[in-house]
Amino acid sequence: MEPISRRLSRYNNYNFAIGEYPPTAEYIDSLQRFEIRDSDIFLVTYPKSGTIWTQQIIISICELGGGLNEYKNNYEQMPWLEYRENREDYALRPSPRLFSSHLIPALMPPGLKDKRAKIVYVTRNPKDNIVSFYHFSKVCADLDTPESFEQFLEQYLMGNVVGSSWFDHIREWHLNRDQYNILFLRYEDMILDLKGAVVKICRFLCQNLSEADIQQVVEKATFKTMKTDSKANYEFVPQDKISGNFMRKGQIGDWKNLLTAEQSERVDQLIKKKLGDLSLKFIFE
Ligand code: PPS
Repeated sequence: MEPISRRLSRYNNYNFAIGEYPPTAEYIDSLQRFEIRDSDIFLVTYPKSGTIWTQQIIISICELGGGLNEYKNNYEQMPWLEYRENREDYALRPSPRLFSSHLIPALMPPGLKDKRAKIVYVTRNPKDNIVSFYHFSKVCADLDTPESFEQFLEQYLMGNVVGSSWFDHIREWHLNRDQYNILFLRYEDMILDLKGAVVKICRFLCQNLSEADIQQVVEKATFKTMKTDSKANYEFVPQDKISGNFMRKGQIGDWKNLLTAEQSERVDQLIKKKLGDLSLKFIFE
Protein backbone atom coordinates (compact mmCIF):
# COMPACT_ATOMS: atom_id res chain seq x y z
CA MET A 1 0.00 0.00 0.00
CA GLU A 2 1.40 3.35 -1.00
CA PRO A 3 0.12 6.29 1.10
CA ILE A 4 -0.95 9.13 -1.20
CA SER A 5 -2.50 11.47 1.37
CA ARG A 6 -3.29 11.47 5.08
CA ARG A 7 -6.28 9.22 4.63
CA LEU A 8 -5.73 7.52 1.27
CA SER A 9 -3.50 4.69 0.20
CA ARG A 10 -3.09 3.19 -3.25
CA TYR A 11 -2.66 -0.42 -4.25
CA ASN A 12 -2.96 -1.94 -7.72
CA ASN A 13 -4.13 1.36 -9.20
CA TYR A 14 -6.95 1.69 -6.72
CA ASN A 15 -7.39 4.07 -3.74
CA PHE A 16 -8.46 2.77 -0.34
CA ALA A 17 -9.47 4.70 2.77
CA ILE A 18 -6.89 4.21 5.50
CA GLY A 19 -9.51 4.52 8.27
CA GLU A 20 -9.79 2.37 11.36
CA TYR A 21 -9.37 -0.96 9.57
CA PRO A 22 -7.11 -0.18 6.62
CA PRO A 23 -6.89 -3.07 4.19
CA THR A 24 -3.40 -4.49 3.64
CA ALA A 25 -1.97 -5.50 0.29
CA GLU A 26 -1.98 -9.13 1.52
CA TYR A 27 -5.68 -8.97 2.29
CA ILE A 28 -6.55 -7.40 -1.07
CA ASP A 29 -4.42 -10.08 -2.77
CA SER A 30 -6.21 -12.76 -0.76
CA LEU A 31 -9.50 -11.75 -2.44
CA GLN A 32 -8.08 -13.46 -5.54
CA ARG A 33 -8.50 -16.72 -3.59
CA PHE A 34 -11.82 -15.79 -1.96
CA GLU A 35 -14.24 -18.66 -2.42
CA ILE A 36 -17.44 -17.61 -4.10
CA ARG A 37 -20.68 -19.51 -3.53
CA ASP A 38 -23.34 -19.71 -6.24
CA SER A 39 -25.79 -18.06 -3.83
CA ASP A 40 -23.57 -15.02 -3.08
CA ILE A 41 -24.99 -11.61 -3.94
CA PHE A 42 -22.67 -8.65 -4.45
CA LEU A 43 -23.64 -5.00 -4.64
CA VAL A 44 -20.93 -3.02 -6.42
CA THR A 45 -20.86 0.75 -6.70
CA TYR A 46 -18.54 3.69 -7.01
CA PRO A 47 -18.84 5.50 -3.61
CA LYS A 48 -21.88 7.77 -3.14
CA SER A 49 -23.92 6.16 -5.89
CA GLY A 50 -26.77 4.70 -3.85
CA THR A 51 -25.04 1.82 -2.05
CA ILE A 52 -26.91 1.94 1.26
CA TRP A 53 -30.19 2.42 -0.60
CA THR A 54 -29.66 -0.65 -2.76
CA GLN A 55 -28.46 -2.57 0.29
CA GLN A 56 -31.83 -1.88 1.89
CA ILE A 57 -33.68 -3.10 -1.22
CA ILE A 58 -31.65 -6.30 -1.61
CA ILE A 59 -31.80 -7.12 2.10
CA SER A 60 -35.57 -6.50 2.25
CA ILE A 61 -36.15 -8.68 -0.82
CA CYS A 62 -34.03 -11.51 0.57
CA GLU A 63 -35.69 -11.25 4.00
CA LEU A 64 -39.16 -11.56 2.48
CA GLY A 65 -37.89 -14.30 0.17
CA GLY A 66 -37.02 -16.22 3.35
CA GLY A 67 -33.91 -17.81 4.77
CA LEU A 68 -31.83 -14.73 5.50
CA ASN A 69 -29.85 -14.79 8.74
CA GLU A 70 -30.52 -11.72 10.85
CA TYR A 71 -27.76 -9.22 11.65
CA LYS A 72 -27.97 -6.13 13.81
CA ASN A 73 -27.90 -3.67 10.90
CA ASN A 74 -27.41 -3.43 7.13
CA TYR A 75 -23.67 -2.89 7.48
CA GLU A 76 -23.30 -6.22 9.30
CA GLN A 77 -25.79 -7.91 6.97
CA MET A 78 -24.07 -6.75 3.79
CA PRO A 79 -20.48 -5.84 4.76
CA TRP A 80 -17.94 -4.15 2.46
CA LEU A 81 -15.71 -6.92 1.19
CA GLU A 82 -12.55 -4.80 1.18
CA TYR A 83 -12.86 -3.10 4.59
CA ARG A 84 -13.33 -5.93 7.08
CA GLU A 85 -9.92 -7.51 7.31
CA ASN A 86 -9.52 -9.78 10.34
CA ARG A 87 -12.99 -8.98 11.64
CA GLU A 88 -14.84 -12.03 10.42
CA ASP A 89 -14.26 -15.29 8.56
CA TYR A 90 -16.78 -15.05 5.74
CA ALA A 91 -16.42 -18.78 5.08
CA LEU A 92 -18.41 -19.29 8.30
CA ARG A 93 -21.35 -17.15 7.16
CA PRO A 94 -24.52 -19.04 6.25
CA SER A 95 -25.84 -18.70 2.68
CA PRO A 96 -27.00 -16.56 1.08
CA ARG A 97 -24.13 -14.20 1.80
CA LEU A 98 -24.59 -10.55 0.85
CA PHE A 99 -21.59 -8.29 0.22
CA SER A 100 -21.03 -4.68 -0.74
CA SER A 101 -17.96 -3.43 -2.55
CA HIS A 102 -16.53 -0.36 -4.22
CA LEU A 103 -13.80 -2.38 -5.95
CA ILE A 104 -12.92 -2.53 -9.64
CA PRO A 105 -13.19 -5.83 -11.54
CA ALA A 106 -9.44 -6.59 -11.40
CA LEU A 107 -9.54 -6.70 -7.58
CA MET A 108 -12.73 -8.75 -7.23
CA PRO A 109 -12.70 -12.49 -6.50
CA PRO A 110 -12.25 -14.28 -9.85
CA GLY A 111 -14.85 -16.89 -8.81
CA LEU A 112 -17.49 -14.32 -9.77
CA LYS A 113 -16.61 -15.00 -13.40
CA ASP A 114 -18.33 -18.40 -13.11
CA LYS A 115 -21.43 -16.24 -13.60
CA ARG A 116 -23.42 -18.05 -10.94
CA ALA A 117 -23.10 -15.57 -8.08
CA LYS A 118 -24.90 -12.31 -8.80
CA ILE A 119 -23.69 -8.70 -8.96
CA VAL A 120 -25.94 -5.65 -8.82
CA TYR A 121 -24.06 -2.57 -10.07
CA VAL A 122 -25.49 0.91 -9.45
CA THR A 123 -24.31 4.01 -11.32
CA ARG A 124 -25.12 7.61 -10.45
CA ASN A 125 -24.57 10.59 -12.72
CA PRO A 126 -21.12 12.04 -11.97
CA LYS A 127 -22.28 15.58 -11.21
CA ASP A 128 -24.58 14.51 -8.38
CA ASN A 129 -21.98 11.94 -7.40
CA ILE A 130 -19.33 14.66 -7.03
CA VAL A 131 -21.64 16.79 -4.88
CA SER A 132 -22.65 13.88 -2.64
CA PHE A 133 -19.00 12.81 -2.30
CA TYR A 134 -17.95 16.38 -1.47
CA HIS A 135 -20.53 16.76 1.30
CA PHE A 136 -19.69 13.32 2.70
CA SER A 137 -15.95 14.11 2.68
CA LYS A 138 -16.65 17.09 4.94
CA VAL A 139 -18.28 14.92 7.63
CA CYS A 140 -16.47 11.58 7.34
CA ALA A 141 -13.34 11.24 9.47
CA ASP A 142 -11.93 8.52 7.18
CA LEU A 143 -11.81 10.84 4.16
CA ASP A 144 -9.56 13.82 3.45
CA THR A 145 -11.41 17.02 4.38
CA PRO A 146 -11.77 19.17 1.25
CA GLU A 147 -10.34 22.69 1.45
CA SER A 148 -13.07 23.89 -0.92
CA PHE A 149 -15.43 22.48 -3.54
CA GLU A 150 -12.98 23.53 -6.27
CA GLN A 151 -10.14 21.65 -4.62
CA PHE A 152 -12.32 18.54 -4.14
CA LEU A 153 -13.45 18.65 -7.76
CA GLU A 154 -9.81 18.62 -8.94
CA GLN A 155 -9.00 15.62 -6.73
CA TYR A 156 -12.14 13.81 -7.87
CA LEU A 157 -11.47 14.40 -11.56
CA MET A 158 -7.89 13.17 -11.13
CA GLY A 159 -9.18 10.07 -9.32
CA ASN A 160 -7.42 11.02 -6.07
CA VAL A 161 -10.33 9.96 -3.88
CA VAL A 162 -11.49 6.68 -2.33
CA GLY A 163 -12.57 4.41 -5.17
CA SER A 164 -10.17 6.20 -7.57
CA SER A 165 -11.65 7.57 -10.80
CA TRP A 166 -15.41 7.48 -11.31
CA PHE A 167 -14.78 7.32 -15.06
CA ASP A 168 -12.48 4.29 -14.76
CA HIS A 169 -14.89 2.51 -12.41
CA ILE A 170 -17.80 2.88 -14.81
CA ARG A 171 -15.62 1.99 -17.79
CA GLU A 172 -14.06 -1.11 -16.27
CA TRP A 173 -17.34 -2.58 -15.08
CA HIS A 174 -19.10 -1.95 -18.38
CA LEU A 175 -16.21 -3.26 -20.47
CA ASN A 176 -16.08 -6.45 -18.40
CA ARG A 177 -19.83 -6.94 -18.12
CA ASP A 178 -19.87 -10.12 -20.26
CA GLN A 179 -17.66 -11.88 -17.75
CA TYR A 180 -20.19 -11.54 -14.93
CA ASN A 181 -23.78 -12.26 -14.01
CA ILE A 182 -24.50 -8.58 -13.52
CA LEU A 183 -27.49 -6.25 -13.37
CA PHE A 184 -26.80 -2.58 -14.12
CA LEU A 185 -29.06 -0.01 -12.50
CA ARG A 186 -29.03 3.77 -12.48
CA TYR A 187 -29.64 5.70 -9.25
CA GLU A 188 -31.84 8.13 -11.19
CA ASP A 189 -34.08 5.36 -12.56
CA MET A 190 -34.51 4.17 -8.99
CA ILE A 191 -35.62 7.68 -7.98
CA LEU A 192 -38.00 7.96 -10.93
CA ASP A 193 -39.50 4.48 -10.56
CA LEU A 194 -38.59 2.77 -7.29
CA LYS A 195 -41.12 -0.02 -7.75
CA GLY A 196 -39.75 -0.75 -11.24
CA ALA A 197 -36.24 -1.04 -9.77
CA VAL A 198 -37.46 -3.35 -6.99
CA VAL A 199 -39.19 -5.61 -9.54
CA LYS A 200 -36.01 -5.73 -11.69
CA ILE A 201 -33.87 -6.67 -8.69
CA CYS A 202 -36.42 -9.32 -7.61
CA ARG A 203 -36.31 -10.90 -11.07
CA PHE A 204 -32.53 -10.81 -11.18
CA LEU A 205 -32.29 -12.45 -7.75
CA CYS A 206 -34.95 -15.01 -8.80
CA GLN A 207 -37.15 -13.95 -5.90
CA ASN A 208 -40.78 -14.39 -6.72
CA LEU A 209 -42.38 -11.93 -4.29
CA SER A 210 -46.10 -11.21 -4.10
CA GLU A 211 -47.43 -7.78 -5.05
CA ALA A 212 -47.90 -7.00 -1.33
CA ASP A 213 -44.30 -7.98 -0.55
CA ILE A 214 -42.99 -5.84 -3.41
CA GLN A 215 -44.98 -2.93 -2.05
CA GLN A 216 -43.46 -3.57 1.37
CA VAL A 217 -39.92 -3.46 -0.07
CA VAL A 218 -40.75 -0.19 -1.85
CA GLU A 219 -42.08 1.26 1.39
CA LYS A 220 -38.95 0.24 3.32
CA ALA A 221 -36.69 1.78 0.66
CA THR A 222 -38.19 5.26 0.35
CA PHE A 223 -35.88 8.05 1.50
CA LYS A 224 -38.39 9.02 4.19
CA THR A 225 -38.68 5.54 5.69
CA MET A 226 -34.98 4.76 5.46
CA LYS A 227 -34.05 7.98 7.21
CA THR A 228 -35.73 6.77 10.39
CA ASP A 229 -34.81 3.08 10.00
CA SER A 230 -31.99 2.59 12.49
CA LYS A 231 -30.82 -0.60 10.75
CA ALA A 232 -30.54 1.15 7.38
CA ASN A 233 -29.68 4.83 7.92
CA TYR A 234 -26.10 4.31 9.15
CA GLU A 235 -26.68 6.52 12.18
CA PHE A 236 -25.20 3.59 14.10
CA VAL A 237 -21.77 4.73 12.85
CA PRO A 238 -20.22 6.66 15.80
CA GLN A 239 -20.38 10.47 15.61
CA ASP A 240 -16.60 10.77 15.76
CA LYS A 241 -16.47 8.85 12.47
CA ILE A 242 -19.33 10.53 10.68
CA SER A 243 -20.57 13.83 12.01
CA GLY A 244 -23.33 14.23 9.39
CA ASN A 245 -25.89 12.16 7.52
CA PHE A 246 -25.42 9.28 5.09
CA MET A 247 -29.00 10.08 4.09
CA ARG A 248 -28.45 13.69 3.05
CA LYS A 249 -30.84 14.78 0.26
CA GLY A 250 -31.37 11.80 -2.02
CA GLN A 251 -32.27 13.79 -5.12
CA ILE A 252 -31.41 14.16 -8.79
CA GLY A 253 -29.96 17.53 -9.80
CA ASP A 254 -28.48 18.83 -6.54
CA TRP A 255 -25.31 19.48 -8.59
CA LYS A 256 -26.99 22.60 -9.94
CA ASN A 257 -26.58 24.15 -6.49
CA LEU A 258 -22.81 23.73 -6.54
CA LEU A 259 -21.28 23.29 -9.99
CA THR A 260 -20.68 26.34 -12.14
CA ALA A 261 -21.63 26.19 -15.83
CA GLU A 262 -17.94 25.85 -16.62
CA GLN A 263 -17.40 22.96 -14.17
CA SER A 264 -20.49 21.21 -15.50
CA GLU A 265 -19.21 21.57 -19.07
CA ARG A 266 -15.85 20.18 -18.02
CA VAL A 267 -17.53 17.05 -16.62
CA ASP A 268 -19.56 16.69 -19.84
CA GLN A 269 -16.36 16.84 -21.90
CA LEU A 270 -14.67 14.23 -19.72
CA ILE A 271 -17.67 11.90 -20.07
CA LYS A 272 -17.35 12.23 -23.85
CA LYS A 273 -13.60 11.73 -23.79
CA LYS A 274 -13.44 8.82 -21.35
CA LEU A 275 -16.73 7.01 -21.88
CA GLY A 276 -17.90 8.25 -25.28
CA ASP A 277 -17.35 4.89 -26.98
CA LEU A 278 -19.57 3.00 -24.51
CA SER A 279 -22.90 4.62 -25.46
CA LEU A 280 -23.93 5.05 -21.84
CA LYS A 281 -26.63 7.54 -20.92
CA PHE A 282 -26.71 9.49 -17.67
CA ILE A 283 -29.69 11.31 -16.21
CA PHE A 284 -28.82 14.74 -14.80
CA GLU A 285 -32.25 16.14 -13.92
S1 PPS B 1 -21.49 5.21 0.43
O1 PPS B 1 -20.79 6.02 1.48
O2 PPS B 1 -20.64 5.03 -0.76
O3 PPS B 1 -22.01 3.96 0.92
O4 PPS B 1 -22.72 6.15 0.01
P1 PPS B 1 -23.94 5.68 -0.91
O5 PPS B 1 -24.90 4.94 -0.08
O6 PPS B 1 -23.40 5.00 -2.12
O7 PPS B 1 -24.56 7.04 -1.40
C1 PPS B 1 -25.18 7.95 -0.53
C2 PPS B 1 -26.19 8.75 -1.33
O8 PPS B 1 -27.36 7.93 -1.55
C3 PPS B 1 -28.49 8.65 -1.08
N1 PPS B 1 -29.56 7.75 -0.60
C4 PPS B 1 -30.80 7.74 -1.15
N2 PPS B 1 -31.33 8.41 -2.18
C5 PPS B 1 -32.64 8.18 -2.47
N3 PPS B 1 -33.42 7.33 -1.78
C6 PPS B 1 -32.93 6.63 -0.74
N4 PPS B 1 -33.71 5.80 -0.06
C7 PPS B 1 -31.55 6.81 -0.38
N5 PPS B 1 -30.73 6.31 0.57
C8 PPS B 1 -29.52 6.89 0.42
C9 PPS B 1 -27.92 9.51 0.04
O9 PPS B 1 -28.80 10.51 0.42
C10 PPS B 1 -26.65 10.00 -0.61
O10 PPS B 1 -26.90 10.97 -1.63
P2 PPS B 1 -26.91 12.54 -1.35
O11 PPS B 1 -27.01 13.20 -2.70
O12 PPS B 1 -25.63 12.91 -0.65
O13 PPS B 1 -28.11 12.82 -0.52
